[in-house]
Amino acid sequence: MTERKIAPAGALHGESSLPGDKSIAHRYALLAALARGRSEIENYAPAADCASTLACLEALGVAVRRAGSRVSIDGAGLHGLKPASAPLDAGNSGTTLRLLAGVLAGQPFESVLTGDDSLRKRPMRRIVEPLTSMGATIEAEEGGLPPLRIRGGALNPIRYEMPIPSAQVKSCVLLAGLYATGSTTVLESVATRDHTELALAEFGARIATTSGMATVAGGSQLSACSLEVPGDLSSAVFLIAAALLLPGSELRLTGVGLNTTRSAVLDFLISMGAPICVTSRRTLAGEARGDVEVRYAPLSGGVISGALSALMIDELPMLAALGPFTERGITILDARELRVKETDRIAALVENLRRMGARAESFPDGITIAGHEAGPLRGAEIDPHGDHRIAMAMAVAGLAAKGETIVHDADCVAISYPEFFDTLDRLRER
Ligand code: S3P
Repeated sequence: MTERKIAPAGALHGESSLPGDKSIAHRYALLAALARGRSEIENYAPAADCASTLACLEALGVAVRRAGSRVSIDGAGLHGLKPASAPLDAGNSGTTLRLLAGVLAGQPFESVLTGDDSLRKRPMRRIVEPLTSMGATIEAEEGGLPPLRIRGGALNPIRYEMPIPSAQVKSCVLLAGLYATGSTTVLESVATRDHTELALAEFGARIATTSGMATVAGGSQLSACSLEVPGDLSSAVFLIAAALLLPGSELRLTGVGLNTTRSAVLDFLISMGAPICVTSRRTLAGEARGDVEVRYAPLSGGVISGALSALMIDELPMLAALGPFTERGITILDARELRVKETDRIAALVENLRRMGARAESFPDGITIAGHEAGPLRGAEIDPHGDHRIAMAMAVAGLAAKGETIVHDADCVAISYPEFFDTLDRLRER
């Protein structure tokens, strides 16, 4: 349980690349495992969550080699996974557990999927229901919690209307759809990240997408690919926010993922007055990427609601923590999903922002944080409740607060961005 002391900082300067995108890395690894042949993945995410996915795949008999940020995977083929000899441990990673559950629902053997204390409190009925209607047998703990015991096999195709906006649920059903006797369709009324659809197409699955709908053909054989994971925009946002808060800052972040189902956060920051520009745009394997340049600027504040809350779900902690530094404050609505992330992020944000002297109120589905009129933030002791994004959001607020901030259990940033504090130190030194 390490703590990190954050002293008020001067400007951030320079250039940085980002760790590979966590969401995309999970998907490339899973599909590579189900493909025929050897896939090579560059810039694989150093996130502990993505290591959990690789460890689960190895436990299912897949050969994985990792050298720095390069991962090579010898695919077992759609029907080549082997039963694991012990429960599969997804660690802290909801994406590992939910996406892998879709794959395991199609296997002719029994698997148990579990995770750490946080993951074992997270809701799984959202995947148990569609997978059960496809014909899998799944036992969960009371309340629909992990561990999940999954007995799978050939599945029925379904047409599934998503009751909540969740890319993890959508992806789980589409992956199970590879094992269905026919075409499986997922319909979403609120858009969520589309990395699974793009990756399935890249690995050669028969998949058709239109706005709000994706259909995958059962039995689609996958072929190995060489891929490069873009930098993680959700991690970049912590550095972007720090640059916006610290006068004189000027940063260039290279090779950042800019998929339009993820980049709404940049448009929102720009709408608040942030001087952000994107250069060197390119698209590889369907995933847009580019360099993001940002300078310090005062921010106006704003309201995030409706479909935008779903598109920016992972960036909401950082946006909330920017609230006290804005002219009018930040209000977030329609974000009930924040309650069931690695921790209850609404409760954790209100608690920690108040410790720093912010005026923050919560609603069942959101949070409102007063702007400048509530006065400057002061350094405080931060309890991230084991949540990487709360730790990083509050550390960034600490850079611009008066006095020292102490982030307890700061190692939890390794879940998505192990080099976060080192990168900040490097950009502050120049
Ligand atoms: C993710 C989807 C989101 C997001 C999570 C990663 C993914 O979760 O919060 O960090 O990779 O599909 P939900 O789908 O549960 O909203």
